Amino acid sequence: MTDKNNVETAEESLKRVSRRAFIKGVIGSGVAVSSANYVFRASNLFGQPAASIGERLITVSVNGQQRRVDVMKQETLAWTLRYKLGLTGTKLGCDRAECGSCTVLIDEVPHYACSVLTHTVRSRKVLTVEGLANADGTLHPVQQGIIDEQGFQCAFCMPGFIMSTVGFLKINPNPTRTELAHGLSGNLCRCQDYDKILTAMMKGAENMRRASRA
Ligand code: FES
Ligand code: FES
Repeated sequence: MTDKNNVETAEESLKRVSRRAFIKGVIGSGVAVSSANYVFRASNLFGQPAASIGERLITVSVNGQQRRVDVMKQETLAWTLRYKLGLTGTKLGCDRAECGSCTVLIDEVPHYACSVLTHTVRSRKVLTVEGLANADGTLHPVQQGIIDEQGFQCAFCMPGFIMSTVGFLKINPNPTRTELAHGLSGNLCRCQDYDKILTAMMKGAENMRRASRA
């Protein structure tokens, strides 16, 4: 009887220690509990042994800042931005290069962050929607265009559309409505608010041209 009690106590103790270690790990890494499942799933999918933390620490240039971050080999940029760096303006919709809601600029070119491995952007400049406004809070002209025209319904897709527009306007600052629609064809809106979105983005383009003349 005594032995049985001792065995149970040891098992319970082990559970307590494991749970405590897990909670400490979550707090220490700054990763939400819900997102931890994603990490474990990704690790299992690829079947790779966990690298040491020293091997995984890299520096990434995000919104003009050098950010030191612990990144797994198979980790996507969208994941790193949202769950390691707290930049949740980059949305995850499909997570497989179909919807464009995760669009960010890498060296000024729009990319789906869900389909870029973070390790590949080490020497490149990443810009997310959080990096568009001025330090004094003045919105980027494209963001202001949305305010002006009240574009979007739920706005889940909005950061992706904004980043795609900002990238497109770098190569064509004075697009026709059709040209801009073509440029944004990699972004989907589940509310199907395309006409209003395009009007807002055309207004953003106009705001940019006015700002560059000022
Ligand atoms: S979440 Fe990246 S394209 Fe849909
Ligand atoms: S406004 Fe709702 S998904 Fe685009």
